[in-house]
Amino acid sequence: MKIVFVASEVVPFAKTGGLADVCGTLPLALEKLGHEVSIIMPCFRGVPVKKIFNERAKVAIIGKNIKVYCLVNKSYFDRANLYGDPTGDYPDNLERFAFFAHETMKLLKDIGVPVDIIHCHDWQTGLIPVLLKENYGADPFFQGTRTVLTIHNLAYQGVFLKEEYAKLGVDEALFNDRQIEFYEKINLLKTGIVFSDYMTTVSPQYAKEIQTKENGCGLEGVIKMRKNKLAGILNGLDYDQWDPEADDFLKPGYSAQDWLAKKIHKARLQDVFKLAPVSDVPIFGFVGRLCYQKGLDLVESAIEGLMQRPIQMAFLGVGEDKYQKMLQKLSRKYPQKFSVLVKYDEDLSHLVYAGSDFFLMPSIYEPCGLTQMIALRYGTIPVASYVGGLVDTVIDLNSSKTRGNGVLMSSYSVSGLDESVDRALGVYSQKDKLNALIAHAMASRFTWEASAKHYVGCYEECLKSA
Ligand code: ADP
Ligand code: GLC
Repeated sequence: MKIVFVASEVVPFAKTGGLADVCGTLPLALEKLGHEVSIIMPCFRGVPVKKIFNERAKVAIIGKNIKVYCLVNKSYFDRANLYGDPTGDYPDNLERFAFFAHETMKLLKDIGVPVDIIHCHDWQTGLIPVLLKENYGADPFFQGTRTVLTIHNLAYQGVFLKEEYAKLGVDEALFNDRQIEFYEKINLLKTGIVFSDYMTTVSPQYAKEIQTKENGCGLEGVIKMRKNKLAGILNGLDYDQWDPEADDFLKPGYSAQDWLAKKIHKARLQDVFKLAPVSDVPIFGFVGRLCYQKGLDLVESAIEGLMQRPIQMAFLGVGEDKYQKMLQKLSRKYPQKFSVLVKYDEDLSHLVYAGSDFFLMPSIYEPCGLTQMIALRYGTIPVASYVGGLVDTVIDLNSSKTRGNGVLMSSYSVSGLDESVDRALGVYSQKDKLNALIAHAMASRFTWEASAKHYVGCYEECLKSA
């Protein structure tokens, strides 16, 4: 099968979160299954791709022979950030990503080999399924091509004022409530949902949640209407990249048979984060975007009680100004016990995953979550809320003696968080139980191979119904 991924972030070229990990890694797994995959992304500032493909794009290769095309436009993409700055989104995002969608279609024709599947990711690519069906509906080049849309995060929908409609470059008649319109505005994620041939999201649990009023972000009705074309496929983890035994950022490495070296990384973590250098106090680490989704408001509400317990906390992240400031304030209030480093830093993220005892993930919602999978791999026990992909990856220690790998919060509240931290502390003081938990965590596997096979099934179904 010929598959092209279209996404706004792809590792190792541009990344703000898990979308990039998925779009740079799933193609490798699909290639290993024998498919021909290519990727199209914007040529953002700093993307280290030099080779010119044509006037529209530069090109690089990942995996065996996956071509990554980077669409060039200095005024749209050569900026400090991908989508906006800490104060908000770039005001011309509709124009930027409409351009991305149109240029993608033109580039596919430049490349000149018809593809079976265009696999779109999130709202930034939501226009592509419409372009294929409407603008290119009669073009013989695209006759066999079908689209799949993966929703990585339903809360980000690409909503814009209807006054901008002309910039989309599609028929005016499509601005109606069954297609592009959503409460008198343009909604690019809804557009993708309505026009794609198949839709997936990144965990089975989240696929259920997005069909409910509580978690459907207003799109539950549209999603439910197409639920026979929806699959929840759990993301995988790149176990070559995330390997505590062979990790370029961590010396010495450690394995599932012997993780004593975690102590060395814990000491360095305390040093780098300026936490008190005590070995018998558990550290709760956090790595992630600092935004509403990640449950930082709950941390703020619970912090006074948490800081009375014998724990330390190390936060690594960038994001919204108000969360950055809130965490910095807490670190001034609780020196040597609570610490935050406001930056995006690959190297330090490895240190937090390896050096922490527990990994805190009190997300309000979590489509899949990769950080808890990484933490598990590094023998760091997730303490997580009972939502989305966390439900599909974290097994509460009370629910299985033989497979329990973490602690799931019993409710999304200060008392729920307190209770889960207390259960974590209970295990921490019983070395046998803790060792069993670490062993189960490090043995947990979420492979891309399994997920890729599932995606291929969806692609096949799409092509069958052609
Ligand atoms: P999301 O996509 O919602 O941001 P995920 O858990 O799916 O969350 O993926 C987050 C990815 O981004 C992980 O690979 C994580 O290690 C990385 N990451 C997030 N914040 C940082 C940071 N400040 N420094 C380094 N890596 C980070
Ligand atoms: C999103 C979600 C996260 C998921 C990632 C990759 O950004 O917030 O839960 O793991 O996409 O699919």
